[in-house]
Amino acid sequence: MVVTVREPTIPITEIEQSAFCQTDEELKSKSLLEELKVDVRWQKLPVSYMRMEPEELDRRILEARAALGTRLMILGHHYQRDEIIRFADLRGDSFKLSQFAAEQEDAEYIIFCGVHFMAETASILGGPDKKVVLPNLTAGCSMADMAHVDDVLDCWDDLSGLLGDGAITPITYMNSTAAIKAMCGRNDGIVCTSSNAEATYKWALEKGEKILFLPDQHLGRNTGVKMGIRPDEMIVWNPFKSMGGHTEDELRQAKVILWQGHCSVHTRFTVPQIEEARQRHPDVNVVVHPECTMEVVQAADSNGSTEFIKKTIEDAAPGTKWAVGTEISLVNRLAKENPDKTVFCLDSVVCPCSTMYRIHPAYLSWVLDGLNEGIVLNEIVVDPETAGYAKIALDRMLSIV
Ligand code: 13P
Ligand code: SF4
Repeated sequence: MVVTVREPTIPITEIEQSAFCQTDEELKSKSLLEELKVDVRWQKLPVSYMRMEPEELDRRILEARAALGTRLMILGHHYQRDEIIRFADLRGDSFKLSQFAAEQEDAEYIIFCGVHFMAETASILGGPDKKVVLPNLTAGCSMADMAHVDDVLDCWDDLSGLLGDGAITPITYMNSTAAIKAMCGRNDGIVCTSSNAEATYKWALEKGEKILFLPDQHLGRNTGVKMGIRPDEMIVWNPFKSMGGHTEDELRQAKVILWQGHCSVHTRFTVPQIEEARQRHPDVNVVVHPECTMEVVQAADSNGSTEFIKKTIEDAAPGTKWAVGTEISLVNRLAKENPDKTVFCLDSVVCPCSTMYRIHPAYLSWVLDGLNEGIVLNEIVVDPETAGYAKIALDRMLSIV
C-alpha cells in the first residue's frame, strides 16, 4: 500500500482567478501590456505584440488567417473572449470540439482557442499528422491542476490493493491531463465531458460496482445523483491524506469515490444567488453548469454543458428570462445574441475563467504569423505511449455517446 505525504498546494491558476473580476465594466480586451498590469504570469511573447492595440491585432489576425486558407482550422471554446471567438471556424463545448478534432481530415493545423487539456485532447484525437497549437501555453485549468498524475496513480494503487483488480472503474472528466486519461485507458476506464457524464456512469455501472471519478467532485456527485446514487454513497478522496482520508470500511462501502477537485469559476455560484434571482424575477429560469455544487444544481431548473446552456437559451420563447450559472464571457455573449430574451449572470461580481482569458488576441496574432513564416509556435505534443492509452479512453467515450 502506498502512503503519500505531500503538502496541499493551491494551483497558480486558482490564485489568479480573481484578477479580472469586476462589477461595473464590460470585459473588453486591451493591449496585452495593459492587461498584464494586474500582475498575472502569462507566457512571454515578443514585445511588439504586447504593445499592439486591439484594432491592429484584429486586422493582423484577419490577414494572417486568410493567408493560411484551408490549411488551418481555428477551434474556439464557448468561454473564449469575444475578441477571440469571432475568429473561430467552429465553436463548441469540450465534447463537440473533441468530436470535431477526431473527424477533422483536411486541415494541416488546428489552433485551439481554449485551455491546455482541450488542445492536448485535440492532438491525441487528431493523430500525429495534425499540428495542434495552443496560443498561450499558460492557458491551463485550475481544476485539472488539482489532480497530479502521481497522486492519482497512488490513489489507484491504494484502491486496487484494497478492493481487488477490476472492482472499480476510473472515469476522468475531460478536464484532466493526458497522463490521467492514459491511466483510465490502461485500466478499463473512460473519459467523459459534462454532456455525456451520465452515459459513462451507466457504462461503468453495467460492468462493475464502483466508480473513481476524477478530478471534479461536483460533476461526479451531480452525475451520481442523476443516476439514483445517494449523496452518502459518494465520498471524497483527499490526495493529501493517507487512503484519501478514509477507513477501509468507508472505501469498501462507497459506490463512487470522488477526487477532491473543483472549478473555481463554478463554485462561486450559490443557492442565495438563485433565491435572489427568483425574488427579483419570479418567472426566471435558472440554468447552471454541472460543475456547480450539488445544492446549486438542485436549486436550478436545468443544468448541462456549455453547448446545452447555449442551445436551451437560443431555443427558448421570446420574452423569457434566464439567470445563468456559468463563465461570464459566454453569459455576456448569450445576452447579446438573444436580445429578445433577458439573460444575466447569477453572480453580480463578474469573473471570467482566468485561464480561458489568457488567450489574448496578441497570442493568436503571434502564432498565426509564425505559421505563415513556416514556424509552428506552441505546438502541443503528447508522447506516443501516453497518447495511445489516452486515446483508448477517449475512443470509448466517443463510441458510447
Ligand atoms: P463544457 O464541456 O461544458 O464546455 O465545459 C468545459 C469546462 O471547462 C467548463 O468549465
Ligand atoms: Fe477549468 Fe473551471 Fe476554467 Fe472550465 S471554467 S477551464 S473547469 S477553471
